[in-house]
Amino acid sequence: MTRRELLGSLIVLPLVSGCGPSYSVVSGFEHQGMVTVDFTELSDASKQPYDIVIVRPKSLTYPIYVFHNDKGYTAFAGVCTHKGCELQLEGEILACPCHGSEFGFNGSILSGPATEDLKQLTVKYLEHGLMITSS
Ligand code: FES
Repeated sequence: MTRRELLGSLIVLPLVSGCGPSYSVVSGFEHQGMVTVDFTELSDASKQPYDIVIVRPKSLTYPIYVFHNDKGYTAFAGVCTHKGCELQLEGEILACPCHGSEFGFNGSILSGPATEDLKQLTVKYLEHGLMITSS
């Protein structure tokens, strides 16, 4: 990885703050099938963690949604369990633009036609961030 690629992977783009959930979009750092996200990417300048961080690894065709609450972090593949369309954040839900399925921030299905919850990803805490894997 070049220095430019490394710096590019650390860019944090704050998008929303205020009354709804605050979130940012980051690319993370990919290595051997896992994605790591530094804690600095998970927090804003005041050190408050974002409620949601959207991780867009270059090697994946879908985003990873990382949710933060008082119990810690959880991560879900941002792909619909119906036919695989990329989910979109719409207020307090993840919505599928293809056929209208909706999922909660805990990955549970709220409305179909999808019948399965979102795939939860494994989150491990590192000294400086999170490591996210699909197993
Ligand atoms: S692919 Fe998402 S509802 Fe069909």
